[in-house]
Amino acid sequence: MRSSYDVIIIGAGAAGLFCAATAGMRGRSVLVLDHAKKIGEKIRISGGGRCNFTNLNTAPDRFISQNPHFCKSALSQYTQHDFIDLVNRYRIGWHEKKLGQLFCNESAGQIIDMLLTEAQNAGADIAKDTAVSDIQQTAGGFSLLAGTKDTITAQSLVIATGGLSIPKIGASKFGYDIARQFDLPVVQTRAGLVPLTFQSSMLEACKSLSGLSVDARVMAGNTGFSEGLLFTHRGLSGPSILQISSYWREGDDIAINLYPASDILQILKDQRKSAPKRSLSKTLSALLPARLGDTICQDLGIQGNMADLSDAALKTLAARIEDWHVRPGGTEGYRTAEVTLGGVDTNALSSKTMECKTVPGLYFIGEVMDVTGHLGGYNFQWAWSSGYVAGMNT
Ligand code: FDA
Repeated sequence: MRSSYDVIIIGAGAAGLFCAATAGMRGRSVLVLDHAKKIGEKIRISGGGRCNFTNLNTAPDRFISQNPHFCKSALSQYTQHDFIDLVNRYRIGWHEKKLGQLFCNESAGQIIDMLLTEAQNAGADIAKDTAVSDIQQTAGGFSLLAGTKDTITAQSLVIATGGLSIPKIGASKFGYDIARQFDLPVVQTRAGLVPLTFQSSMLEACKSLSGLSVDARVMAGNTGFSEGLLFTHRGLSGPSILQISSYWREGDDIAINLYPASDILQILKDQRKSAPKRSLSKTLSALLPARLGDTICQDLGIQGNMADLSDAALKTLAARIEDWHVRPGGTEGYRTAEVTLGGVDTNALSSKTMECKTVPGLYFIGEVMDVTGHLGGYNFQWAWSSGYVAGMNT
């Protein structure tokens, strides 16, 4: 570690390492500092250990921000195809799981190794297990204290400290504190891509159905996602719930269609005609997991053979299956959230370079800023794209 660099990057996660490689390849001297003993840990645990590293369908509408236009420039300067080319150059095998989501065939560790190799080939120094403090703006850029005694200076300072989720592997509010130190606004943060929790009778129902999953369509206001839904002993999870959690606001209902494949009322009426002596329970078990169907029927007090059921009863049952309104009590929070919504206000930053408008030489990249992707590889693509544009301009 020298006492002076062109660029210091705080945070050796996805965005920080990629930025280091990009800046280093331009001939800039780069130091990456991270307080964690192991770096890239979020990448290691991502995608169930296989890292969903990008999405073929990356587009600005897959990102949530107070300024939905902000992400456009970076995403077009460094696209999902650019990252796929890089992964291919390293001969990392990958596959599309579904919905454009690309995963490593073997392990997320391959992406970490690739990023470290890129950063090292670009000449970047990486110091882990090193706390950073006392950041000051100087005439030539910035100075900071790395560890307890090393004062280091740099022309450019890049904050890549990520969001608040999974504190036990290094997440901290450091980036937001630095933003505030330089009088930059921070959009209120909250957990995103996170399971929803419930109370009272709904919690009991979820517990009794824990482990069971269905394809569902889940809506919060006008926003909806059609993917798997999982009952847990705390409430609801699964991709559709994680996605909607980023749009859900405390006190609001979500609407769940447990049978989005087709018109459930019509199916039930047809079944009443074609198999009148079959029990409702048996009929439903062909459409939904049996335990779920039985719980709904018990809850509504509707039972018997199909022939015994009135139009009104079928209508009530269909409404409960395709337009089930529930009010979550909360979320599982940062302990299990995949991302942090909100963060450093994009109005304070250049969308082309990620540099602060009011503090030349200071950059924010990745999840620390108010740009959050949907589930499916979008958050890593934002780390690559924002890290790249900063790396090209530091
Ligand atoms: P990231 O969190 O990667 O890195 C931040 C770094 O800063 C860390 O190394 C941390 O130690 C360091 N740091 C923090 N505070 C510091 C301080 N005070 N001083 C020094 N260093 C500090 N996304 C996706 O696209 N596909 C996926 O498959 C998944 N899967 C997934 C699973 C799970 C369980 C989680 C929690 C998250 C995901 N994500 C994901 C989200 C994705 O991991 C996340 O959006 C990116 O890692 C963000 O990259 P950053 O570089 O911004 O932060």
